Amino acid sequence: MDKKFLDKEQPLRILIFSASLRIGSLNTQLAKLAAMVIEKNGGKADLASMKEFDCPSFNQDLEPDGTHPPGTEEFNKRLLANDAFMIVSPEYNGCMPGYLKNSIDWVSRFRPQPFNERHALIMSASPSMAGGNRGLWSLRIPLEHLGTRVFPNMFSLASAHQAFTPEGTISNATLAKRFEDNIIAFMSLAEAAKNYPCIKKAWVEFLGEKPDPVTERAE
Ligand SMILES: Cc1cc2nc3c(=O)[nH]c(=O)nc-3n(C[C@H](O)[C@H](O)[C@H](O)COP(=O)(O)O)c2cc1C
Repeated sequence: MDKKFLDKEQPLRILIFSASLRIGSLNTQLAKLAAMVIEKNGGKADLASMKEFDCPSFNQDLEPDGTHPPGTEEFNKRLLANDAFMIVSPEYNGCMPGYLKNSIDWVSRFRPQPFNERHALIMSASPSMAGGNRGLWSLRIPLEHLGTRVFPNMFSLASAHQAFTPEGTISNATLAKRFEDNIIAFMSLAEAAKNYPCIKKAWVEFLGEKPDPVTERAE
């Protein structure tokens, strides 16, 4: 399967970041591993840090002149520069981190709205037995609301504090394969969406949807 997506002209570009701000983060470790899997399979990983996208609390009073905090500008720019994105997020109290939702809210104010129609894979890591999976369900809500095509299969690394080898790979062979297979499946879909946009157009026509600025969900 190696190099499956290698297109020297236009490799699939994927923004990937861990939504943890912590040094020594388990989610950052998993994000780095995912970036290696992307590159191994011929994609181009744009590995970012949550610190680059962090923003002050959202306040509509701060945006009357159209200026955005630097973290928002950077997040928007990196989404637009890539074909798809991956978020590897901690779970705090059964939910995504508040600062991640805050950054998503800020970026949702750009037009065109950059989450719309982008493909995303979401993953998590936690010392708990559920691997932070509940947080991913909460992350789905704003992303799907904004029109992101969130990949159905998520990946949550349970007991993450014990799950890595000293080299940073996943020590359990079955889990390591599932992790890689899921990323490859996501890349296949994102690649198809990038190169065959006619499929998406046909789907919209079939539903008979007509763009309407008043009711358009994401725009
Ligand atoms: C405020 C707070 C709330 C947390 N809530 C949860 C939780 O609901 N579920 C869970 O699995 N872990 C929870 N944890 C533990 C985190 O999963 C753990 O600290 C993890 O290592 C954070 O991710 P990181 O290593 O990438 O920074 C919580 C941690 C903190 C600080």
